[in-house]
Amino acid sequence: MTSKAARAAKASAPDSSDRAEADTVAFDVIDGIAWVRFNRPEKRNCMSPKLNRQMMRVLDELEFREDVLVLVLSGEGTSWSAGMDLKEYFRETEAEGLPGVRRAQRESYGWWRRLRWYQKPTIAMVNGWCFGGGYGPLFACDLAFAAEEAQFGLSEINWGILPGGGATKVARELMPFRKAMYHALMGENIDGKTAAEWGLVNEALPGDQLKARVEQVAKVLMEKNPVALKAAKDAIRRVGEMTYDNAEDYLVRAQEAANSFDNHGRKEGIKQFIDEKSYKPGLGAYDKKSS
Ligand code: COA
Repeated sequence: MTSKAARAAKASAPDSSDRAEADTVAFDVIDGIAWVRFNRPEKRNCMSPKLNRQMMRVLDELEFREDVLVLVLSGEGTSWSAGMDLKEYFRETEAEGLPGVRRAQRESYGWWRRLRWYQKPTIAMVNGWCFGGGYGPLFACDLAFAAEEAQFGLSEINWGILPGGGATKVARELMPFRKAMYHALMGENIDGKTAAEWGLVNEALPGDQLKARVEQVAKVLMEKNPVALKAAKDAIRRVGEMTYDNAEDYLVRAQEAANSFDNHGRKEGIKQFIDEKSYKPGLGAYDKKSS
């Protein structure tokens, strides 16, 4: 058999090495941080229906746990996520017809949407390949840090489709127009450094410094008032499409709604600055422990 024929036979054979659904996502909770990982390194963490279902379960389990203050999403092995699984997400669900296609879309879009509006602050820690559908969860995370050597690409054009599943929208939201257009049409990859320059991620660092930097950022977030964090992250996402007047009004209502969950925090923040002079809001967060 030619190597091409051997590869084709392997691709159409049932995948005996495939993991159990429960094993497609891994996580640990350590010192307030939930380290969640795409866990199909042998498939470069591409997103299959099984992985999408399991990720929703994991997000459900972690969202309101008191020992989880920040969620970090990364990938096992050399990849963050190689996008949608071309075999299990596209080919196999298309073979089931429209119901299969729509079910698979609901499962993946569903957990990305859940992550976009997650109760806790979220950080994408992009350790390697990040392709196509991977831009959905990348955008869903509030902040993103990448290894300089990570590779980002809208590879869809290379196999004959437009960047769907939100990927085009993500490029347009995060990048300037010309960069987004080039990225979608050319099918060329960019490294972590370029991804930071183009706005896809906050920062790029040498791979061996990535985790320490993410941990440092997570620790800063943990010092903040959690009700204010949730209100602020939702506001940043919502105001983009609003007129100035609508945004002004929304922000008044959002703060008043936040007050009903956390009457005390805001007053404590003012007291520690104005009366006790124990901190300056321009230079750091108030002490939550004494509130
Ligand atoms: N869908 C299905 N299978 C995928 C996949 C994807 N998106 N990405 C990787 N895999 C599988 C490969 O088929 C291979 O399976 P096999 O071991 O059964 O042959 C395995 O993962 C390892 O991938 P391989 O290509 O050998 O790894 P690599 O390190 O040489 O290359 C990539 C990594 C990411 C550059 C390459 O796998 C790739 O181009 N993947 C597709 C990326 C893509 O276009 N995603 C967009 C989807 S919207």
